Amino acid sequence: MIDSARPLVAGNWKMNGSRAMTRDLLASLGTALDDAGGAPCEIVVCPPAPYLADAARALASIPGIGLGAQDCHGAASGAHTGDVAAEMLADLGCRYAIVGHSERRGDHGEDSATVRAKAAAALAAGLGAIVCVGETRADREAGRAEAVVGEQLDASLPDGANAENCVIAYEPVWAIGTGLTPTPAQIGEIHAAIRARLADGVRILYGGSVKPENAAAILAVADVDGALVGGASLDADAFWSICRSCP
Ligand code: PGA
Repeated sequence: MIDSARPLVAGNWKMNGSRAMTRDLLASLGTALDDAGGAPCEIVVCPPAPYLADAARALASIPGIGLGAQDCHGAASGAHTGDVAAEMLADLGCRYAIVGHSERRGDHGEDSATVRAKAAAALAAGLGAIVCVGETRADREAGRAEAVVGEQLDASLPDGANAENCVIAYEPVWAIGTGLTPTPAQIGEIHAAIRARLADGVRILYGGSVKPENAAAILAVADVDGALVGGASLDADAFWSICRSCP
């Protein structure tokens, strides 16, 4: 079950890591959680698909950390070579699947209709969908950030999306992996616009160059209910520090 009452910090490892790194990073996070006497927020790690089974085994003894996948297919099963069905991820013990990340939209030409099918498949399998939206630098410079995000959201959200099965991640494409972030005011504007389009209580994460140094300021912005963390989630200390920055 997803825990919509708490902020969510999700680590998106992208195409990084190894079995050894999975084991070591999760062990370090488990120790930090034990030392702290509990989780400061809902915490989820999203390793690459080949490491999900290892991660699920490691997390069996770390109940404070949930497992997520970075993608799933829009169909329940069938002739889709190389793809992974949401039901398989649920079977492995995943709680979430990220869908519509800008790297998937870009690298694999996924449009919002595809993203919506993936989100619907995640929900049908009992997973929470972390649906990603975000404008490019050109969109922002043209004054179209809010419009683009709104269009993506309307076209990507599956029927029946609610606080118990969906999370939105606002990730400006120009902020991902660049060290650049919008100002708190810019984040607040887009989050408020997203909030106005959603069912009550759906959490809205910010993602894009979240680091220990900027996490507290970002997580304190109104309507920011957590973070989707890429690069900094590959380091246990940095990721834990971001988790601890939740208000
Ligand atoms: P980043 O990635 O934290 O490395 O910018 C965020 C993301 O793409 O989810």
